[in-house]
Amino acid sequence: MRKIGLIAASGLLALTAACEQGTKTSGEGAPAPATPGVVTPVPLPVGPNFPVPTATINAWIDAGDTASIRGHAWSLWQAMAAPSGQKFNDQELPIWETWAGPNDVFPTNLAAVQAGTNGVSLEARLAKPRVIRNFAAPLQFHHAKGVKLGALGTFGNSDVTADNKFNPQAATFIDSPQAGPGGAKYDYSTQSGLTKLNASWPTGTTPQNRGINEFPVQAIELKPVFGTVAAKGLTVQPLWQGPGGSTNPTNPTIRTWTTCMLVSPDGTGPVRPATPAEIASVSTAGTACKTFLWTPLSTLYAVRLTAPEAKNFAAATGKTVAEGDYAVLLAMHVNTKEIPFWTWQTFWWQPGGDTPNGFPGSKQGQPTSLGGPWSNYAACTAYNQTTTPSSQTMQVCFNPYLETDPSIPAGITSNCMSCHGVAVVGNSQPYPANYNKPIAFFTDPTYFSTTVTHTDFSWAVATSP
Ligand code: HEC
Repeated sequence: MRKIGLIAASGLLALTAACEQGTKTSGEGAPAPATPGVVTPVPLPVGPNFPVPTATINAWIDAGDTASIRGHAWSLWQAMAAPSGQKFNDQELPIWETWAGPNDVFPTNLAAVQAGTNGVSLEARLAKPRVIRNFAAPLQFHHAKGVKLGALGTFGNSDVTADNKFNPQAATFIDSPQAGPGGAKYDYSTQSGLTKLNASWPTGTTPQNRGINEFPVQAIELKPVFGTVAAKGLTVQPLWQGPGGSTNPTNPTIRTWTTCMLVSPDGTGPVRPATPAEIASVSTAGTACKTFLWTPLSTLYAVRLTAPEAKNFAAATGKTVAEGDYAVLLAMHVNTKEIPFWTWQTFWWQPGGDTPNGFPGSKQGQPTSLGGPWSNYAACTAYNQTTTPSSQTMQVCFNPYLETDPSIPAGITSNCMSCHGVAVVGNSQPYPANYNKPIAFFTDPTYFSTTVTHTDFSWAVATSP
């Protein structure tokens, strides 16, 4: 077994090397962490499918080669789902769940960090027991035009929680002091460091040039979305069936979906219509459920909640959640820095058939080797703002669990890149009001001026505490 302490050596290389060794040994028996709750971040293995050369991806985009783009999204999904050899609460984690969270990358309690009680470096923080799942109400929902995101709380009432995750390359980049104007180094993990950078550009620096350094090509950022399934009885979980399967087709939020799954924690067998007795056993208060299906828990990526996790989930959502209930993965945003404006893909739970029009995406093109539960998720991609660089047709891609919320303007016609490209520090950070045409990065005067600094498409950096 590898000593976790090894990764306390500074620098990404040491972290990566230790992690690779951890992965290799997983076949012979997963390395148990020295302390319960210690999870070592495992990088995505490097190979022909990651990172894919920028020129290859750009050729797909130029040709409108949707099949190759979707193939890449699925290969990222499959690689991230591979067993990591790391355990938490007696369950082996997929690679992506080992990655650093906002508490690790953006330590809010700087006093504790400086005092050494929270670990002085990112490596030291990651070598201690940490919060693996940071259950919080999705922050975008609180983002109203003109309101500074960083000033808003992360807890509120919501049906689902959303977290942010950063692979070792992204976490190390954000954590490392970065060279900037005047030969000085700037801290991207704190709002004060970014404010200093924003105030340091020499007079005459163009809006385009007022940007943070770019993330490394192997950087990956995630936003996993979790719901819960009770340990006993059936749990009602609305199922995305497109805007037509909602009582509010303009803002089809989860509670307006009319088809609902009854999730059985211990049942087996395929998805099927629910029986009258099963339907009678659940409460549908607060939902729009009309059509009922039954599914075993195994169609979802599910983890048993620890007592502190259950408490956090309840605080974030107002739901009754207890230790031993399951957190279930309903959706996940994924972006990689393989191309300068990042690759964007999102996944959501879609057991059974695709939605009527495959909108905004589908399960098409999944590798046959994917396997459950990961094969029960649909995907859409937006590797460019328009369908091809010369096209005027916008590439629509959103997650039904997130961007359907009314606090996001025109969410069901949105794409990831347009909204993330306008992430800046230094002002009120408006969202695009609509997605009628592509945004000019980083020259459109609505978003980019000589008072702001753009943050390489990372809203997490722009809104760091
Ligand atoms: C209307 C604006 C908007 C749209 C559209 C949008 N996002 Fe985001 N996204 C945000 C904001 C704001 C945050 C920061 C919230 C937080 O920190 O939790 C964020 C956070 C994220 C994160 C965490 C890391 C980071 O850079 O902030 C990922 C990954 C992400 N989004 C991916 C996507 C993907 C993929 C899509 C498209 C399917 C998408 N987003 C669509 C606004 C948007």
